[in-house]
Amino acid sequence: MTIVSLSINDNLLKKFDDVLGEKGFATRSEAFRDVIRSFVNESEWEKGLGENLVVITLIHSKETPKHDLLKIQHTYEEIHTMLHTHLDETNCLEVYIVKGSGSRIKQLIQSIRKIKGVKQVEFVTSVSNM
Ligand code: NI
Repeated sequence: MTIVSLSINDNLLKKFDDVLGEKGFATRSEAFRDVIRSFVNESEWEKGLGENLVVITLIHSKETPKHDLLKIQHTYEEIHTMLHTHLDETNCLEVYIVKGSGSRIKQLIQSIRKIKGVKQVEFVTSVSNM
């Protein structure tokens, strides 16, 4: 690891310390590393670069044609894990753990959104090689 020093105004540092305490970070270094990872991840994700690890959750109606979702699941080998659970009488929740390039995963998310009966798609990204 490399030691980096930086200057920051007192007011911002005070706020940063308050937040890192609230979020459960033990040290400033730990919190800074987390912020830097998010910063790099966001940029790589936007450019469609890097290996991204993404958790996608979707809610769909039980009426959703199974065929459409299966086709996507077999088209994208980036999907590593799938979980299906029944939310209530009309809706299902699916969770996909996906690893691959940002551009490919964005395509996957767009394809899911186009399926009739899909009501909500959300995702969380992180760079997998840090
Ligand atoms: Ni179901």
